[in-house]
Amino acid sequence: MLNRTARSWLFAIASMLAACGVSIAADKPNVVILATGGTIAGAGADVTNSATYQAAKVPVDKLIAGIPQLNAIASVRGEQVFQIASESLTNANLLTLAKRVAALVKQNDVDGVVITHGTDTLEETAYFLNLVVHTDKPIVVVGSMRPGTAMSADGMLNLYNAVSVAASKDARGKGVLVTMNDEINSGRDVSKMVNIRTEAFKSPWGPLGMVVEGKNYWFRLPAKRHTNNSEFDIEKIDTLPSVEIAYGQGNADDIAYRAFAANGAKAIIHAGTGNGSVSSAVVPTLQELRGKGVQIIRSSHVNAGGFVLRNAEQPDDKYDWVVAHDLNPQKARILALVALSKTQDSKELQRIFWEY
Ligand code: DGL
Repeated sequence: MLNRTARSWLFAIASMLAACGVSIAADKPNVVILATGGTIAGAGADVTNSATYQAAKVPVDKLIAGIPQLNAIASVRGEQVFQIASESLTNANLLTLAKRVAALVKQNDVDGVVITHGTDTLEETAYFLNLVVHTDKPIVVVGSMRPGTAMSADGMLNLYNAVSVAASKDARGKGVLVTMNDEINSGRDVSKMVNIRTEAFKSPWGPLGMVVEGKNYWFRLPAKRHTNNSEFDIEKIDTLPSVEIAYGQGNADDIAYRAFAANGAKAIIHAGTGNGSVSSAVVPTLQELRGKGVQIIRSSHVNAGGFVLRNAEQPDDKYDWVVAHDLNPQKARILALVALSKTQDSKELQRIFWEY
């Protein structure tokens, strides 16, 4: 351990480096921040612009320099992986990011990884990493609902909390986590439920815990397979198939499903009403497409947590369809992307949807 004089010198040097966007801290956990863009890197014209701003503007070194308090909890360094609004992230971006995370967590000088990310598709990236990165080290995905230039911006505390959780030994082995609004949610379960409040992200089955003033309070553990217990490994995945989502609503027709199949979709996620219900105007087309080898996966677009039961609204056994369990359509798409890298068998797909 360093003596008091040495520690105070080190802290002075660390504070000067922090002003340049480099953060070091003696005998503290090493946390790497991978920045991808989004509102947490956003900037508006005025402090009153909490919703009108440009996302993906502030570089990672400025995000780190903006929170010198990080020095007290971790030795932090940043990498700018992308600088984009998350609605524009592609399958290729997902692969690049996941491969970088997988490489970092293998390093002995990395204790945790934080990914700063736009909130629009944050839930998709968090689930993808949960499925394909093999590690027990904390991986924490974080965003913000307001740009750092706005009054009562939430990004600074969200990022501080994310680094604090990523630096925590008690966050190990809990899968990919999402820290927003003082909550710690599972990357599998959490979804953006509101698009105009800082309390935007919710899990239908509740958060795993809270993080308050740098301390984690845990209430539950993930029940589904993830990270080290996953049969999927990003080091063995170099491409992702086309999986599309078609929305179910009143007066539905089959145009989108036919177009997706014609364009090479290997699976179509039906974002159904209620219990993954399918309009009678669409069922025959899904049967035809299944007959042509397209996987049909029934999900539900209900907001606070759908739960599609097999053979309830539709005879899935008879049609050889898959149900998405409690996964919303965008999460079901992520799991289908990964599962199809391993199997085309619908019964195997259904096992995977029960287990992940
Ligand atoms: N364009 C949205 C995105 O990058 C901004 C929303 C946000 O990051 O909160 O996801």
